[in-house]
Amino acid sequence: MAAARGVSASAGEARLRVGATSRPEFTFAPGGAGTRVLPEDAMKTIRFARSALEGSVLAYGCWRLAGTHDPAQVTPERRAAAHAAVIAAYELGFTLFDHADIYCQGAAESLFGEVLRQVPEMRERVRIVTKCGIRFAGDPDPAAPYRYDFSAAHIIAACEGSLKRLGVETIDLYLLHRPDFLCDPAEVAAAFSRLKEAGKVREFGVSNFRPSQVAMLQKACPMPLVTNQIEFSLLHLEPLSDGTLDQCLTEGLTPMAWSPLAGGILGGRIGAAMNDPQHARKAKLNDALELIARDRGVSRAAIALAWLRRHPAGVVPIVGTTQPERLREAAQAAEVELSREEWYRLTEAAHGQRLP
Ligand SMILES: NC(=O)c1ccc[n+]([C@@H]2O[C@H](COP(=O)([O-])OP(=O)(O)OC[C@H]3O[C@@H](n4cnc5c(N)ncnc54)[C@H](OP(=O)(O)O)[C@@H]3O)[C@@H](O)[C@H]2O)c1
Repeated sequence: MAAARGVSASAGEARLRVGATSRPEFTFAPGGAGTRVLPEDAMKTIRFARSALEGSVLAYGCWRLAGTHDPAQVTPERRAAAHAAVIAAYELGFTLFDHADIYCQGAAESLFGEVLRQVPEMRERVRIVTKCGIRFAGDPDPAAPYRYDFSAAHIIAACEGSLKRLGVETIDLYLLHRPDFLCDPAEVAAAFSRLKEAGKVREFGVSNFRPSQVAMLQKACPMPLVTNQIEFSLLHLEPLSDGTLDQCLTEGLTPMAWSPLAGGILGGRIGAAMNDPQHARKAKLNDALELIARDRGVSRAAIALAWLRRHPAGVVPIVGTTQPERLREAAQAAEVELSREEWYRLTEAAHGQRLP
């Protein structure tokens, strides 16, 4: 990838310095409305099958953006770091951003909305994914339990809340976060239709759904469900064999993979947990990643992400680091196409033994 370049309208402010490689540093300075940031690199893009939605082959995930799950703990330093992370992703060519109404109880969406206001041309270039359907304990009354809520009233109210926090008129892709056991597919379909007709949502999808749940909802919905956002990584192989990816290929859903580095383990955060029963397997997998990474001249994280991208369903990994330099390393995955042999070498290491 070539260099990325940012230009700030506000001179004299402390500049964010990340990276000490041959690539120029990121140059975003938090600067208020009118700040210009120009991504010089175009990351490869992917079109979500069955839709006109197109975004970068890697998405940037905003779950950890605030650096805390408590909105009261979003200090000015955390706010600045969150802005810097979003801008770093944008400068690197990420155009797909993943949110949920519950991330830091709405603060992640608000922080992202602040960046959109500071960098107005960004809205046109990025695609925003967000989710609804999980409700915290105590909402709306103190006795309410943590739960799932796919009632039409909740879906519509949650969407309005996300639009407001993000400061946008339309959500590009709106997902149901986790299956609601009390889901009435016809009611969800009616809510989706209302949001689409009102121009508040372009495309719809689901997250953490089993294939049968996708099929059930799709049967009721007049619009295609374009993604199932699932946990998928070298340390979470189930989607390869539980029918999830088969369904994506059969029905044309474009899967998105959350925790693609298994919360950082695959990037190197294997830790010193020798008493972890999985330690030997993780260490072997890290060795296999390291070998291929060295051979390809990229980071281990990039290889772990490229492993996801190699699947023919067109998996979109959602990168979750908040550190711009790690983000830069992860972005290398957009350029790596693993061979069948490399893919199976990693899969065998992840499996812990020779495949049957
Ligand atoms: N639909 C769902 O139910 C669901 C669930 C979970 C997540 N998600 C989405 O998926 C996104 C990604 O999930 P995730 O954050 O768990 O992804 P991840 O990339 O697997 O993990 C990110 C974590 O790993 C650390 N990390 C990243 N690279 C590292 C490296 N090279 N070495 C050591 N540590 C490293 C990061 O720390 P630093 O920040 O310090 O680098 C961060 O804490 C979320 O932001 C969210 O958008 C969706």
